[in-house]
Order: sequence, then C-alpha cells, then structure tokens
Amino acid sequence: MTAQSNAKGLEGVVASETSLSFIDGQEGILVYRGYDIHDLAPHASFLESVFLLWNGRLPTRGELSSFEAEIAGQRGLDPTTIDVLRRLPSDTTPMAALRTAASVEGTTDPDAEDNSAEANLRKAKRLVARFPTMIAAYHRLRGGAEPLDPDASLGHAADFVRMANGEPGTDEAAAALDRTLLLYLDHGFNASTFACRVIAATLGDMHSAVVGGVGALKGSLHGGANAKAMEMLLEIGELEHAGPFLDSAFAEKRKIMGFGHRVYKTEDPRATHLREMSGELTRQAGLEKYYEISRYLEDRITGEKGIRPNVDFYCATVYYSLGLPIDLYTPIFAMGRIGGWSGHVMEQHADNRLIRPRARYVGEMDRSWVPIDER
Ligand code: ACO
Repeated sequence: MTAQSNAKGLEGVVASETSLSFIDGQEGILVYRGYDIHDLAPHASFLESVFLLWNGRLPTRGELSSFEAEIAGQRGLDPTTIDVLRRLPSDTTPMAALRTAASVEGTTDPDAEDNSAEANLRKAKRLVARFPTMIAAYHRLRGGAEPLDPDASLGHAADFVRMANGEPGTDEAAAALDRTLLLYLDHGFNASTFACRVIAATLGDMHSAVVGGVGALKGSLHGGANAKAMEMLLEIGELEHAGPFLDSAFAEKRKIMGFGHRVYKTEDPRATHLREMSGELTRQAGLEKYYEISRYLEDRITGEKGIRPNVDFYCATVYYSLGLPIDLYTPIFAMGRIGGWSGHVMEQHADNRLIRPRARYVGEMDRSWVPIDER
C-alpha cells in the first residue's frame, strides 16, 4: 500500500483494496470486475452490471431474468417514506429528499440493523429497486400530484420515467437512461463511495452508509456537476455566446462544471459514450445547438487548458434531450451509483477494518490557560 502523507484531498493515496472496479487515469480505462466499460456499455444493461458487480461474474439469461424480477418486485416504498416525503418543505431539493427518503427506509427496513452478508444483499436489492421510486415520488409530490405505484412489468429505467412523468417514455429513451445508469454504476474510491466505506467500516449499517454517499454526491464538485453543466449550457444559450462566456470564465478563473477529474489525465472513458449519445439524442430532440456549444467548450477547454470533460458534462445534454428535469440529474446519478455504494458496503463488511486516518496538526501549542475573567 502506498501512503503519501499530507496529500491534500488524499490525492494519489491508495486507501484500501477493492475487486469491484479498476481505473487507469493515465490510459483512460475503467473496468467493472474485469470487464472494460467499452465492452459493457453497448451490450450490458444496468441491472446486468449490478449483478456483475455484486457477484463477480456475468449472469446467465435465467439469472438475469430472476434478478430483474426480484428487483422489480421490490420497488414499492414503505408508506412511512411517502408520508415523510409529503411533509418536506416545498423548496426541498430532490437530492435532499432522496437523502431523507433513504434514511427513512433505514428505519422501516426489516434488516435495518443486520450487517450479515445475506441481510446486506437483501437491503442492497431494495435500495437499487427503490431509489427510482423515491426520486419519482418526491418529484410528483412537489408538483402537487400523487406518487404512482411501480409497475413491475416495466424495466428499471422505463418504470422510473413513467413514475416521474406520469406516462411511459419510448423504449429508446429508457435504453439511453439505462446506459447512463450503467456508466454511473461504480468508480473506485470516488468521494461518495469512500464516504460509504468509512461509515460501513465503523460497522455502520447499509442505509447509514448510503445516506452518507448521497450527501457526498450532492456537492457540485462531485455528482452535482451534471445539473450545473446543463445550467451553464442554458445560460450560454447560443453558440456565438460560448466564446465570450469562456473568455470571462478563464479570466475570472472560474471552474467549468463537467470538466476535470482527479484521476483521469486523459479522456474519461464514460464521456466517450456520453458524447456519442449526446450527439445522437440532441439531434433527435432538435436540441443540436447544445451539443454544438458543448463541442465548442470541449475543444477550447481541452485545447487551451488541457482539461477534458468528465462523466457529467455530456450526460447533461443526454438528460436534457430526454426531457428530464435538471434538478433530477444528480438523483438519477445516485440511481446508478447506489449499485456501487451498496456493493462497496458489502465488500467492506466482508473484510472490515476501521478506516481512521490521522491529521497533521498545524495549530498552536504550549499556550497557557487564562481564567475566563482575565480574557
Ligand atoms: N474548470 C477550470 N479549471 C479547472 C477545472 C475546471 N472544471 N478543473 C480543474 N481545473 C484547474 C484548476 O483550476 C487547477 O488549476 P491551477 O493548478 O492553475 O490552480 C487545476 O486544474 C487542478 O484542479 P484541482 O481542482 O486542484 O483538481 P482536483 O483534482 O482537486 O479537482 C475536480 C478535480 C474537483 C473534479 C475539478 O476538476 C473540478 O472542480 N471540476 C468541476 C466540477 C466537476 O465537474 N465535478 C465532477 C467530477 S466527476 C464526478 O465526480 C462524477
């Protein structure tokens, strides 16, 4: 194990081991359980990849059907969760609502306090199944509509679209959404996954760990970037405004959301797929101008700063083309990453040691006590 003391933001520090996913930031490689993302993305489904991540092997056709049916049958939320979502202040963000819903589910889950491998797997399935229902239920409630019950006859992504929008989307839209979930599924010790593992390593339970993960993902330096990237593209609005926008962003040293990565020093392999999807979907939706603005930003930011788009940049225009509300982009990221978070909790609990690093103290020393009346 490499230990670099004082690495700000733990950059380059190898904190532990995992068998779930591998990243080579120099070569731009991402692997789930030995399978290159470039092989999985065009061929596998999200749930097929979740099975792979949790079991270490691809499912047979029969195993995948049973797994999909089992997950589909678990989509219904506990009524307490709906009650709590109903009572949230109307300006609650969907990420805060998701964090709350995941926590409430942790109070009603029959396996809540059981950290055994069997109980963890049951909880992981329920969480993967229910994240879409939580997000869709809150989205309906905040719009003054009643949550829709899940329909187990529909696929994972398709049922989310129906529960959120009130009507099913096209098969193509569901397939595109499903692929983004696959691309978001797992990514080594990213900030939210590491947060989950720290909580799990105290022997904290699955739901507590996942709630920590949602909290970490919410920030704009992590999952929040996909929504911020779309807001930026809308602010730019027209291709001819992109140049002046970038000029002032560079002059003011503003960070461009959806660009840069702690690990990738070359193309993020997930961005390769999302760029292609964005080109296709924006064309189909008549929203090509946002793809053109995105390409312009990429060319200049990469050319002038050497900084490349990450997973969140082209995902923004993919979700916009699918008609998804912008503030659901980060919760949808969580719908994918929940498979990874829960997998990491299971891996941590299977071979646990408390994660407890040290801090280098940089404060004062040897001060003399001053009684309160003399200060
Ligand atoms: N726009 C402009 N400049 C950038 C960007 C960006 N998006 N990202 C990095 N840089 C610059 C920094 O200003 C810094 O320049 P300097 O050395 O001249 O000061 C240099 O590149 C290094 O950047 P750091 O922020 O130190 O790199 P770090 O590894 O800590 O950050 C991070 C990685 C947080 C992703 C950063 O690139 C960023 O803030 N990007 C925007 C937010 C974003 O897209 N987050 C999603 C990441 S992917 C994910 O979490 C799923």
